Amino acid sequence: MAVREIKTGVFSVGALDWDRRLFDELIPLPDGTSYNAYLIKGKEKTALIDTVDPTKGAELEVNLQTLGVKKIDYVICNHAEQDHSGAIPKILEIYPEAKVVTNEKCKELLIKLLLIPEEKFQVIKDGEMLSLGGKTLEFIIAPWAHWPETMLTYLKEDKMLFPCDLLGSHLATSSLYAIDESKAYTSAKRYYAEIMMPFRTSIKKHLERIKGIEIEIIAPSHGPIYQKPKFILQAYEDWVSDDVQNEVIIPYVSMHGSTEKMVSYFLESLMKRNITVKPFNLTKTDIGELAMALVDASTIVIASPTVLGGAHPSVIYAAYLVNALRPKTRFVSVIGSYGWGGKMVEQLAGMLTNLKVEVFEPVIIKGYPTEENFKLLDNLVDKIQNNLL
Ligand code: FEO
Repeated sequence: MAVREIKTGVFSVGALDWDRRLFDELIPLPDGTSYNAYLIKGKEKTALIDTVDPTKGAELEVNLQTLGVKKIDYVICNHAEQDHSGAIPKILEIYPEAKVVTNEKCKELLIKLLLIPEEKFQVIKDGEMLSLGGKTLEFIIAPWAHWPETMLTYLKEDKMLFPCDLLGSHLATSSLYAIDESKAYTSAKRYYAEIMMPFRTSIKKHLERIKGIEIEIIAPSHGPIYQKPKFILQAYEDWVSDDVQNEVIIPYVSMHGSTEKMVSYFLESLMKRNITVKPFNLTKTDIGELAMALVDASTIVIASPTVLGGAHPSVIYAAYLVNALRPKTRFVSVIGSYGWGGKMVEQLAGMLTNLKVEVFEPVIIKGYPTEENFKLLDNLVDKIQNNLL
């Protein structure tokens, strides 16, 4: 990523990863990502906020050379995950006088994950300040956004917040700033859904805390920088709130068409009553799209055929993810078909224990659906309609 000055003495020095398509070998990245790092030059000291993924360490090095950086005093580590911390060892090799400034918990992780020697650290506490000379950094410990050691850094004079993963997005773009708000919103929502949603309660508290800080710029460690902090803070307020939308999402798989017929009848029946519904064929869908839909939806109806006595393995995978992501969904049901028996409903119920939901009567039928079965699906639609919020 080209080096760019954001404010006097504050530079973007990170790297774009246009081609990365998977994160944690799990999360699809349709738009690539960026690993943002920021150099802050004070009158006396220089600090680097976060580094980059180790695969992009050379790019960070070149960016620092471009700026003629001869000395780095502090490497601020907001988060120990390697896409931000992985190039710290390289930076410490090039700038051996640098201290890694972070909290105790993050230090412990960095020692274990990156084998950084203990004497390289300067440990800070919540609310502590670090002066660079005319530039003051304040550290806000914000655990579980999304690891236990996460923290935010606030640059007081420039009213800039560096929240690392929080408020970020997996989006590679030549634009340093979130100019295309529609794109930025979608990418940030996807990021929230995949990474932050399980920690909604902690994040609510962090958002409440930063409300007391005057912020003009939010510079996360993934995706574009926000010059309008309200834009992303308001979006997060909505996502972490307890409010849900009247939407039904249907993650489904069909093997021989019976479950598909049930899904299409159910879908039509919901649409006839003007209820928003989003089907996700799990053999084709990008799992990130499903995660995004989970941010707001009031209702999940899982649809599956029976395979070897249980739900289809793709449905099992989706159910596992739904449970792990802990959406604020209020209602759940299961529909599907079997040939000669099985315990699909019990199996799925046992997998969704993190959800605090009301369960609507499942519709599990033998073979291809008949008129009688469609009535049961209509009953489920009635139930959904009667529970619109
Ligand atoms: Fe972008 Fe949790 O690392």
